[in-house]
Amino acid sequence: MTRIADVRLRRILDSRANATVEADVLTESGGFGRAAAPSGASTGEHEAIELDAEEAIANAREHAVPRLVEEVYAGDQRSVDAALHAADGIDDFSGIGANSAVAISMAAAKAGADMLGAPLYQHLGGAFRGENFPVPLGNVIGGGEHAADATDIQEFLSAPVGAPSVTDAVFANAAVHDEAHEILADRGIPAGKGDEGAWAPSIDDEEAFEIMAEATENVSDGVGFEIGFGLDVAAAEMYDDGEYVYSDRTRSTDEQIEYVADLVHEYDLVYVEDPLDENDFEAFAELTDRVGEETLICGDDLFVTNTERLQTGIEQGSANSILIKPNQIGTLTDAFDAIELATRNGIEPVVSHRSGETEDTTIAHLAVATDAPFIKTGAASGERTAKLNELIRIAEDAL
Ligand code: PGA
Ligand code: ZN
Repeated sequence: MTRIADVRLRRILDSRANATVEADVLTESGGFGRAAAPSGASTGEHEAIELDAEEAIANAREHAVPRLVEEVYAGDQRSVDAALHAADGIDDFSGIGANSAVAISMAAAKAGADMLGAPLYQHLGGAFRGENFPVPLGNVIGGGEHAADATDIQEFLSAPVGAPSVTDAVFANAAVHDEAHEILADRGIPAGKGDEGAWAPSIDDEEAFEIMAEATENVSDGVGFEIGFGLDVAAAEMYDDGEYVYSDRTRSTDEQIEYVADLVHEYDLVYVEDPLDENDFEAFAELTDRVGEETLICGDDLFVTNTERLQTGIEQGSANSILIKPNQIGTLTDAFDAIELATRNGIEPVVSHRSGETEDTTIAHLAVATDAPFIKTGAASGERTAKLNELIRIAEDAL
């Protein structure tokens, strides 16, 4: 192993054309890794703190880079990430910025892989044999914080659970995305796209459910394997003063549990993310108790990839799945620890993009390396297809 020789940080554009942090890590033996931080819009209240890109870069240059260069072995991910924590000095990364931390953490992993001449998923995951592959969840119709004047529920996700290969799954999601557009056009409904490339028509949730059911069924009939669908309700964004506020009505917590349980049964939903408020472990547990045998109840804003919050959720039976977003917690090591704790307790990890993304493909490798059953990374748009296309390449490589 050789040591880190240099860390370079710069501002680049993300998919919303906002500034984000890109890091290059160079090693003494000539290894190189580059990665960029994504950024959320419907962020959880308990996430690691992202700073303005310029401020994050200045702070990381002052505090983190001197602890890494000529100090830490590239490829020793735990030491790299421990140095980032020490540089920050605060648990939530508000010192150097979670955006600087995650970019450096991921770039160091890539430099480590480069030194070994191994693909990143192998460096991260050891002996991946390509037996299981993450099923991509494709965002087809959406609104919430990702588009104005669209659905209340943030994401309607195509889930090609019966796909024989990752390539079939990726193309199935693209076909469902296309089919939904056709159905919208047949109904005379114009639709632009939201932040993640999903259609963002001005329709209510009920109509979105109808269109998703029709689109997934039509494509499933054509390809000959099962395609279900799921949701990211992002309910913390609609929760206000004890009630869930929808465009046309409000629901109490009990009514919200009832509503989501009914949706799971009516549409055979295979996946439901954040159906309840991010601080209501108890309501999550009630819903998981009711429908957890039939579907995945996934905590995103609830857990924020944080092992302490996950531990609380495990003790209370709040969910049977956790969303994994490295930038929510700041480093790859922390994300790995969350995945390990989840897996040991029968909680399914789902690796995820953010609504603001770059061409970075680290999460595709992370999902494969950790044997995650699902990856959530959109269905269309370049910053999403970057990850999907990488999954296709990894699958070919692993054969
Ligand atoms: P975000 O949304 O990246 O805007 O937080 C994605 C999600 O809620 O899963
Ligand atoms: Zn979410």
